[in-house]
Amino acid sequence: MKIIDFKNSINKEGLDEISKVINDGGLVIFPTETVYGIGADATNREAVDSIFVAKGRANDNHLIVHIADFDNLSELVYEPNEIEKKLMDAFMPGPFTIVLNKKNLIPSNVSAGLDTVGIRIPDNEIAHAIIKACGKPIAAPSANKSSRPSGTKIEDIIDEFKDSVDIIVNGGETKIGIESTVVRVIDGIPTILRPGQITPEDIEREVGICKLDEHIFQKANGVVLSPGMKYKHYAPLAKSIMIYSNNNDSLVDAINELVIANTVIIGNEKNKDKYPNAKFVSYGSTIEEISHNIFSTLRYVDELMPSLIIIEGVKRKGLGIAVMNRLIRSCDYNYKEI
Ligand code: TXA
Ligand code: MG
Repeated sequence: MKIIDFKNSINKEGLDEISKVINDGGLVIFPTETVYGIGADATNREAVDSIFVAKGRANDNHLIVHIADFDNLSELVYEPNEIEKKLMDAFMPGPFTIVLNKKNLIPSNVSAGLDTVGIRIPDNEIAHAIIKACGKPIAAPSANKSSRPSGTKIEDIIDEFKDSVDIIVNGGETKIGIESTVVRVIDGIPTILRPGQITPEDIEREVGICKLDEHIFQKANGVVLSPGMKYKHYAPLAKSIMIYSNNNDSLVDAINELVIANTVIIGNEKNKDKYPNAKFVSYGSTIEEISHNIFSTLRYVDELMPSLIIIEGVKRKGLGIAVMNRLIRSCDYNYKEI
């Protein structure tokens, strides 16, 4: 495995190396504005298979295909409808993935045998340059072993992937920190399958209507629209509980009652002095900071080897919907609202 450093500037030599690896069927970890992805040539079935092996991912969970612009979209998918086009114009490039009907150029293992594929144009200079240089659509799930928090900086990723990918591209910490909003238009209604920085309000503003898939906050079993929602995910290794209250004093009291020996509490900076019997780790103050920090915080807390992790929930509004979706799943639905 080789590390290519594009943190301060992108160079042609590095791009050529990356392009060669991708075009030879290899794997490259690269930054996007959301999280790091493990990329392979989306048109190469064997290369795509090796992503599933590297991640330890169930093969009924489809991958997102990343493109640099709309130029060759018609080779990959059938013509989007008017609502899909409006959403694509409004939110792409950006932290937004649209599920469309795929053509045969995309092998069936990308889409877990379904006839749809998630398409995304990352809004990140390094990702853009890499996809352009490769001249291929790039299939890329988040860079984390299955069930672990997504990778948002290479220090968190190297150990998990040093033996299973060819190149890791360093682009520093990712800006947003949680993955893209995944949307599928169903019977004319944009339906959010996975919440992200593009919120239901943003989508309503563009097309007047938006629905949240029922599995965003509920445990899913059996058939789901987005299989990623079905698996244990974003989870630290220690047992974890999340508590939410819109009254901060009640929240602090409830958490203090649950503290046992060697507990770590993950919460808002403003509460840092309110838990006398536990170690406190701040995830930031604003919802943007929390989104940016949440996965690296979960990884960091794991390293402390606590016997219990208690997480302060956030208000389910705007970006808070996406943060709560990740937190609820990181504590495996061990969640209480008071
Ligand atoms: O921000 C992101 O989206 C990152 C970066 C690397 O682009 N990628 C990412 O990929 O998070 P992944 O594979 O970890 O998550 C993709 C999610 C999964 O929950 C998957 O089930 C869903 O999107 N998905 C992908 N294609 C789909 C499809 N055709 N229909 C429904 N859901 C789909
Ligand atoms: Mg993922």
